[in-house]
Amino acid sequence: MSLLFSPLTLRSVTLPNRIAVSPMCQYSATDGVPNDWHLVHLGSRAVGGAGLVIAEATAVEPRGRISPEDVGIWNDEQVRAWQRITAFIKDQGSVPGIQLAHAGRKAVGDWVPVAPTTEPFPGLNTPEKITNHTEIVKAFVEGALRALEAGFEVIEIHAAHGYLLHEYYSPLTNEGSIEERIAVPVEVTAAVRAAVGSDVPVIVRISGTDWVEDGWTADDSVVLAQALKAAGADLIDVSSGGNTAQADIPVGPGYQVPLAEAVRRKADVPTGAVGLITEAKQAEQVLNDGAADLVLLARELLRDPYWPLHAAAQLGVEVKAPRQYARAF
Ligand SMILES: Cc1cc2nc3c(=O)[nH]c(=O)nc-3n(C[C@H](O)[C@H](O)[C@H](O)COP(=O)(O)O)c2cc1C
Repeated sequence: MSLLFSPLTLRSVTLPNRIAVSPMCQYSATDGVPNDWHLVHLGSRAVGGAGLVIAEATAVEPRGRISPEDVGIWNDEQVRAWQRITAFIKDQGSVPGIQLAHAGRKAVGDWVPVAPTTEPFPGLNTPEKITNHTEIVKAFVEGALRALEAGFEVIEIHAAHGYLLHEYYSPLTNEGSIEERIAVPVEVTAAVRAAVGSDVPVIVRISGTDWVEDGWTADDSVVLAQALKAAGADLIDVSSGGNTAQADIPVGPGYQVPLAEAVRRKADVPTGAVGLITEAKQAEQVLNDGAADLVLLARELLRDPYWPLHAAAQLGVEVKAPRQYARAF
């Protein structure tokens, strides 16, 4: 019995296996509109057998793009372009997810970035301080509704890697108690949950630690995860870092898995583990150890879009390759 190849049900959606394509910016869009590159990139990974294909950080408003080449979900043209992509992913038996994002002070373009601080990220533009966060909440809600219209079945809120929602909860970029700092990410999650209804899975990606003293910690992440769960999040995708250039990150195989495990055990919420998970047995182990309910792979799936099919063969699990490729598997 393989846990990796067992289904995972989140609300009304059942993923055929527990392998997710971790969101990866392609910096290949014009005016936020996804194109053939995004269709082939995401489509190939659905063909390769990933149960959940999460589209890259997708801006909920133009100034929330990390770069001018980011995809977006703030207008109807973008919705129409995504529809073709989500339909293809679903045709492969895979579930299309989207990462709703706002870059905050890490936006690099010809606009003024916004953040809870006026302190710039080293080397980047000086942000304008957000005084009324209501419009941010509204942008995420409208993005989530457009995402459903675009055919996405899973919503991931990007609250990691030093982008806007992480900037709110990290003490490196915001002031006040932890309760005050997590308030906006929690409000965004609750508002998205209320907007999408009770059937749609909502995942939140967090940075489990800032990897610096005086920064956000693994214990803080447990507090945040509990609040996010109460706000309607179904799974916490635990990444790390991104809010400072100073961090000393102990990069190695599965280096963020203990963060996912701590959140899962202490906040009693399903988690996703990500970061240098590259081997089938390793992925299976992460799930068997109870560290996570889902594994997300990024770079390994760039090297090998068929990783899920290869992993199944290695673990002795029979899975269906696409009908068109049956003679090869
Ligand atoms: C090309 C590339 C683009 C990325 N873009 C995003 C993104 O849009 N959103 C996000 O949360 N993480 C992004 N990441 C981080 C990955 O999702 C993942 O968390 C990280 O690469 C660690 O996983 P890995 O070791 O399997 O690559 C990106 C990574 C890569 C390599």
